[in-house]
Amino acid sequence: MNKRILLTGGAGYIGSHLYVLLFNIGYKPIILDNFSTSHRNVIQNIKKITKSDVMIHEADVRDNKFVTKIIKDFEIESVIHLAAFKSVEDSMKNPKEYSNNNLGGLGSVLEAMKDSKCENLIFSSSATIYGNNSESPISENSKRVSLNPYAETKIMSEDMIFDFSRRNKDFKYGILRYFNPAGAHDSGLIGEHYTDKSTNLFPIISKINKTSKGKLKIYGSDYKTHDGTPIRDFIHILDLVEGHIMSLQYIMEKKQNLIINLGTGKGHSVLDIIKTYSRCLKKDINFDFCNRRLGDVSISIADPGLSHRLLKWKAKRGIEDICNSNIKWNRLYPDGYNF
Ligand SMILES: NC(=O)c1ccc[n+]([C@@H]2O[C@H](COP(=O)([O-])OP(=O)(O)OC[C@H]3O[C@@H](n4cnc5c(N)ncnc54)[C@H](O)[C@@H]3O)[C@@H](O)[C@H]2O)c1
Repeated sequence: MNKRILLTGGAGYIGSHLYVLLFNIGYKPIILDNFSTSHRNVIQNIKKITKSDVMIHEADVRDNKFVTKIIKDFEIESVIHLAAFKSVEDSMKNPKEYSNNNLGGLGSVLEAMKDSKCENLIFSSSATIYGNNSESPISENSKRVSLNPYAETKIMSEDMIFDFSRRNKDFKYGILRYFNPAGAHDSGLIGEHYTDKSTNLFPIISKINKTSKGKLKIYGSDYKTHDGTPIRDFIHILDLVEGHIMSLQYIMEKKQNLIINLGTGKGHSVLDIIKTYSRCLKKDINFDFCNRRLGDVSISIADPGLSHRLLKWKAKRGIEDICNSNIKWNRLYPDGYNF
C-alpha cells in the first residue's frame, strides 16, 4: 500500500487534525489547500506537533491539471476530500460561490482520480443534509432534504459520487456525514480558528471569552427540549478524524462503499454546553436569547449504530473533553492562528 494520501483542504480545522493523526500512524499525507478559509500559520503548528516538515501544495482543488499531476507524481492511492466552503448562512448570501467551489472542487478531484487510476475517496458530507424532516436519532436511511445552498451542494456531491461510482467499477468511496465537530488537539497547538464568519458554537464561545465583549446569541428558547434550546450531537474532533482512518481502511480492505454518520448518539443543548464550558473555564460565558433562526431544527442527534457495526468505531470523548481541549487551545492561542 502506498502510504501517501492526498488531503484536499488539509490546512483547515478538520484537515489539520486528520493530518496529524495520519502522520502519527505512519501515513505520508500531502496537503492541497488554497487557504481560502484557513490560516497559513496552522502549518507551523502541525510541524511543531509532528516534529517534521509538512508536504503542502498551495493550489485550488478546481485546478484539475494540478490535482492530476500531484496524484500521478506521488502515486497516490487515496484522496480525502475536505476542501469546501461550509457556512450555511454564508451559502444563503453567496449560493453561486458555494456550488462553484463545492461542486467544482469535487468534480475536479473525481476527474483527476479517474485519469490517474486512484480509486479510494473519503468525502466530507454533513448532517445538514437531513434537513428538519428527520426524527432523532437520525439514521443514514433518513431522507435527504436541502434547506439551504450549502446542504444542496453536499446532496449534489453525494449524488455525483454515486454516479461516478456506477461508471467506474473499481472506484470505492466513503461518504462521512459529520454531526457537530468540536474541540481541539490534546497539545493545544491546533484547534478551530475563529473568524468574523464563524458560525459554529465553539469558535463563537472562544471569541466571546477572549474579547469579553458582547454576549453569545442563543437562537431560540422555546424548542421542545429540556431547557428550550436546540440540541445537537457534538463530536470531539479527534474521534471524528479517527472515524476517517477506519473508514478508509474499511473501503480499501473490504472493497465496499460506505455511507455513515459520524456522531456520538448523544445530544446536548446549547445551554448545556455553555454551562459545562463555564464550569471547565471557571468563568461565566454571557449569553442572550434571540429569535429562532430560519431552518434550525430542534434536535439533531446521530444514530451511530451503522458506524459501530461496520467499523467498530465509537466516539470515546465527551463534552468535557471537548470544552477542556478548546480551553487549552484558547489559552495557548487566544487569537487563534493570528500570531
Ligand atoms: N466543521 C464542521 O462543522 C463541518 C460539519 C460538517 C461537514 N463539514 C465539512 O468538512 C470539510 C472540512 O471542514 P472544516 O471544518 O475543516 O472547514 P475549514 O474551512 O476549516 O477547512 C476547509 C479547507 O478547505 C480549503 N479550501 C476550500 N476551498 C478550496 C479550494 N477550492 N481549493 C483548495 N482548498 C480549498 C480551505 O482553505 C480550508 O483550509 C468541509 O467539506 C465541510 O463542508 C464540516
